[in-house]
Amino acid sequence: MVPSSSSSLLCCLVLLTIGCQFHAVESTVDTIRAVNYYSAEDDASWAIHTPNVTTVIGQHKQKLYHDFIANCHKAVAEHKEEDPQLCSENEEYRMYMNKYQPPSMHNYTKNGFAKIRAPKKMFDLISKFWNANKGKDKTEWPHLTTYHNLWDSPPTVTLLNEDVNEGGGQELMNELFAEAKKVVEEWTGQELRPVSLYGIRLYHNGSILAPHVDRNPLISSAIINVAQDVNEEWPLEVYGHDGVATNVTMAPGDMVLYESHSVIHGRPFPLNGDFYANIFVHFEPLGPKDEPLETYDPDLDLPPYLIPGSGWVTQWRKEHTKGWYEETFDVVKAANVGDLVVLETIAENYPNDLEDKDDLGWEALHLAVKAGHLEAVELLIDYEVDINSVVNDGATALSIARQFLKEGHPITQFLMDNGAIDPLEEDEL
Ligand SMILES: *[C@@H]1O[C@H](CO)[C@@H](O)[C@H](O)[C@H]1NC(C)=O
Ligand SMILES: *[C@@H]1O[C@H](CO)[C@@H](O)[C@H](O)[C@H]1NC(C)=O
Ligand SMILES: *[C@@H]1O[C@H](CO)[C@@H](O)[C@H](O)[C@H]1NC(C)=O
Ligand SMILES: *[C@@H]1O[C@H](CO)[C@@H](O)[C@H](O)[C@H]1NC(C)=O
Repeated sequence: MVPSSSSSLLCCLVLLTIGCQFHAVESTVDTIRAVNYYSAEDDASWAIHTPNVTTVIGQHKQKLYHDFIANCHKAVAEHKEEDPQLCSENEEYRMYMNKYQPPSMHNYTKNGFAKIRAPKKMFDLISKFWNANKGKDKTEWPHLTTYHNLWDSPPTVTLLNEDVNEGGGQELMNELFAEAKKVVEEWTGQELRPVSLYGIRLYHNGSILAPHVDRNPLISSAIINVAQDVNEEWPLEVYGHDGVATNVTMAPGDMVLYESHSVIHGRPFPLNGDFYANIFVHFEPLGPKDEPLETYDPDLDLPPYLIPGSGWVTQWRKEHTKGWYEETFDVVKAANVGDLVVLETIAENYPNDLEDKDDLGWEALHLAVKAGHLEAVELLIDYEVDINSVVNDGATALSIARQFLKEGHPITQFLMDNGAIDPLEEDEL
């Protein structure tokens, strides 16, 4: 039964939506107000806490969700996915996380989200890469999930780190991470560890992103709108710390900061247009700025954003069996991304770990050199790792610099200034 007042209510909402979007262009999210008042418990825009979508914002939402699930089941049968229960299991877990993860999380901001302009340097780098690589996007996921309607409108991605993509690679990723880190650290007041940044995702006509929270350790995050060709705004729906839904619209160059571990976010209104291109950057807080491990209790070995004794602790331990310290303070990962905070913390607490070798005999120094992280290389040498340690195939840090870095790279010079030798070079002579 549709109440007779619903059509005039809808008309009023349409007007308000237009008004709100107009207002949003000039403002930060602090001043954006929800057009329609509903919270995650209402299951109004999608199945968020339960599969029972309500009619709060219209009866069509029930049908849309119902069709989404029916098409998921159909796609699972057609793709002969191994697990016939995939759709329902995925949905159960997504809603379980929505319900139980946020209340167990520490937050670092008042609202949980904000919209700003991306730093100019960052957006220039992104635009240059985008313009050089338009049309080279490939399907992002080989397997079905219920986060996206992959069966109708699969997102595609242009990877930042693929050498086939012009201007892509480690150097671009390093610069983008560094720019985003400054912004998100200022917003959260936390010392952040880079966790994920991989490419430009393109959503296409009809695309839906089911409202969800990110798995730990994707905590302090940012979305940058790269480009779009749409017939109408495609809002990001977020449930801020006040619990109320807000539609956030984005123009190219806009950057939405969000606490992705506790703020339910999605795009439950099908995209109307050709494409919508976004980059995602995720960080993990290690503690207050300049005091990374201040809240860390080795006896509990939990991440600082998880409330000790809260409901999510059991689930977290199930999924992170190594415990927080060992999982996070991983010398190989830190060297690969040039994470100075993590490297320094390891150096201060477990200095021997700095010279751990992987299967190929590579140490943090070799990895940091290959990835082009000058400051990480300097830090490792400051902490007196052996500058001339040799990997299994006989290369040293200097050999690796000569093989993988551009000629005249400051790392090569730094190594030579500090007494590095290159046994491979001598062999060739
Ligand atoms: C968000 O936008 C959708 C689609 O226009 C609308 O139905 C919904 O009421 C809006 N929600 C909020 C919180 O403004
Ligand atoms: C969904 O609705 C059905 C029928 O109205 C009800 O039996 C069921 O308990 C509801 N499920 C949840 C999780 O609220
Ligand atoms: C963090 O935010 C989530 C969702 O907004 C909320 O459920 C939770 O209670 C907040 N945590 C604290 C410690 O206030
Ligand atoms: C998007 O899909 C709708 C429904 O199938 C269709 O009517 C519309 O023309 C499509 N738009 C674009 C830009 O492809």
